[in-house]
Amino acid sequence: MSENKKITIAIDGHSSCGKSTVAKDLAKELSYSYIDTGAMYRAVTLFGLRNGLIENGKVDEQKLVNQLPNIIIRFQYNAEEKKNETFLNGERVEDEIRELTVSNNVSPVATIREVREAMVKLQQEMGREKGIVMDGRDIGTVVFPDAELKLFMTASDQVRAQRRFDELSGKGSDATFEEVIQNIRERDHIDSTRKESPLRQADDAVVLDNSNLTPDEQLTWVIEKVNKILEQIQ
Ligand code: DC
Repeated sequence: MSENKKITIAIDGHSSCGKSTVAKDLAKELSYSYIDTGAMYRAVTLFGLRNGLIENGKVDEQKLVNQLPNIIIRFQYNAEEKKNETFLNGERVEDEIRELTVSNNVSPVATIREVREAMVKLQQEMGREKGIVMDGRDIGTVVFPDAELKLFMTASDQVRAQRRFDELSGKGSDATFEEVIQNIRERDHIDSTRKESPLRQADDAVVLDNSNLTPDEQLTWVIEKVNKILEQIQ
């Protein structure tokens, strides 16, 4: 593998289909940075919830947009945990943004054009040097349309819900499987039908359905694709 040629890897797909697992493994293997763009929309949502700008599932869009300059999101590498952690206005919010209240409110926030524009701008800055793996819904279509490798990931909703349920249960959450699958279906629907940058497969993306693949198997599959691209651009 070439030491100096770095590429951009864009990973898009449905909620909870293991995008972040592939992205993290890939970043580690290639010594690239990993950016979880969902965490950014989640952090904006957390800000909205904490400041009374989202109530009963209703987002006060104008007030949230006005607050965008006061929502500072950054990632910091935690060497002990070996992962990037999300910070909102200087506070580590890595756990808070994964809670079900945030999951239940993030989709409408991610439909707001001004929120998307601000996040996309930040994401493009973070990826300017290449050598990055970024996952989300619009990375291959909007953020990095010229990415050398675009993956479009999917898995059945039952498989995805079970994975998310296990993850939440492991963290002590009392969310039921029914609630989790409901949330996933709702988010799929909003993410795919929204007007602003809906989730869609880029024409030049490769599809990875990992319903029946282990993390190791999918990593091997993706590394093969990366190596082919790196060979071609030498
Ligand atoms: O990947 P995730 O579940 O953490 O994403 C949280 C929400 O943010 C999800 O409803 C879709 C939205 N999102 C988006 O619209 N665009 C992105 N690039 C990443 C996430």
